[in-house]
Amino acid sequence: TFSSPDDASTYLAEYIINKINSFKPTASKPFVLGLPTGSSPEGIYARLISAYKDGRISFRNVITFNMDEYLGLPPTNDQSYHYFMYNKLFNHIDIPRENIHILNGLAKDIKKECVDYEKAIKSYGRIHLFLGGLGPEGHLAFNEAGSTRDSKTREVFLVESTIKANSRFFDNDLNKVPKSALSVGISTILDNSDEIVLIVLGENKKFALDKTINGTKNDARFPSSYLQDHSSVLVVCDNAAAGL
Ligand code: GLP
Repeated sequence: TFSSPDDASTYLAEYIINKINSFKPTASKPFVLGLPTGSSPEGIYARLISAYKDGRISFRNVITFNMDEYLGLPPTNDQSYHYFMYNKLFNHIDIPRENIHILNGLAKDIKKECVDYEKAIKSYGRIHLFLGGLGPEGHLAFNEAGSTRDSKTREVFLVESTIKANSRFFDNDLNKVPKSALSVGISTILDNSDEIVLIVLGENKKFALDKTINGTKNDARFPSSYLQDHSSVLVVCDNAAAGL
């Protein structure tokens, strides 16, 4: 727990840099990193860009898998997670384009897109570090309440509270927020990752963070409680998020 979002972001950016640098990735043995979107990881991404510019890290041999993408939004839409990731991170570092994996929200064959994503993750063996955020109601990626422990990458329908929370990025217009998304599942995250690291910032996350850590394990009403089922989870938060 840190007193400010800035301190939490600095800690976690340095944590990720250390993990990648001590792994010493090469083309034949890349570092596999899972990534989230949302406002919470923005400070981390800004710090990773600075570290790259300072020559403290290279992403040439890093493979990334993003957690989710809205259905129906093209990469050019400034609210798509493609746009977010390129704008906030990928365009500013030396990661080769072919190393980047983000679910295609325009996929014609949604099932195939999801199956192929699972296969692509498996083709690298393990995800060395999965960075995640937390939804105010305890969702992980777009795994809403009711998601099962064995869920895989699939189409998910957003619940009202998520649509409401994310409407701030869509001119506060609920009608503009896509109603469904593609998302990695709980099993995709838990069963493929060596380590999971969560960034949780702000008072509106204190309920979800309490359920994540102190709630009943594997409570489908709060999908982040499935994290208790993993052997290596680090939660980095600010005082506000830790309020409960
Ligand atoms: C979206 C994303 C989640 C993210 C959540 C919280 O719903 N699909 O992956 O964790 O928002 O975002 P923020 O960090 O902006 O609160």
